[in-house]
Amino acid sequence: MKLLFVDCCISQRGAESRTRALAEAYLAAFCKAHPEAEVETVSQETLLALRPMDADALNQRDALASVGAFDAPQFALACQFRAADAVVVAAPYWDMSYPAALKTYIEHISAVGLTYHYEMDGCHGDCNAQRLVYLTSGGDFEHEDSVGVVHWRQLCGLFGIPRFDYVFAGGLDIDPVKTPELLEAACAVARQLAEEA
Ligand SMILES: Cc1cc2nc3c(=O)[nH]c(=O)nc-3n(C[C@H](O)[C@H](O)[C@H](O)COP(=O)(O)O)c2cc1C
Repeated sequence: MKLLFVDCCISQRGAESRTRALAEAYLAAFCKAHPEAEVETVSQETLLALRPMDADALNQRDALASVGAFDAPQFALACQFRAADAVVVAAPYWDMSYPAALKTYIEHISAVGLTYHYEMDGCHGDCNAQRLVYLTSGGDFEHEDSVGVVHWRQLCGLFGIPRFDYVFAGGLDIDPVKTPELLEAACAVARQLAEEA
């Protein structure tokens, strides 16, 4: 089984990144519970090198899709996402959502005819993954309907991924004394999710 790790843990904290701590807790528990799992990572460098879609890029992509050329490099990330058996996305809570690099990645994996398609009753997903977990950490406490959580839940619907879970490690910039405890509690939830199914 292949676990795709989308590493958007962009941080000024380096090894002390809370988002990375969440991701590492999840990945370690996942690999322990699923020793056969192969982890494939979409690195920060890959994410940060992506260009947002413009008209030319969209036209090029449509032209390739119209002849079924989904093996073109333009679709490499979408093919990788489509093939994964499970996905974990980790990104800090920035500006009430997440880093722009992650949005650009979403533009690249959202490819009609590959990761989803249209039918008379609307969109249907074509991805293989049975579950996606979204991990995030924020300075403030979690608000209802946090954008990253809502967005990834809706993307799972679009891509046909039946199970969505998330962990929001919130309140980490409020009282430094409480930060380690809050982060550890969130890591424990991440570990528990990783051990399931
Ligand atoms: C550019 C930037 C934007 C941020 N925006 C928010 C925000 O909108 N809401 C919030 O609660 N925290 C915000 N924060 C705080 C981070 O979410 C918080 O410190 C988080 O734990 C950072 O994760 P890290 O340790 O992995 O870098 C922001 C931090 C940065 C650097």
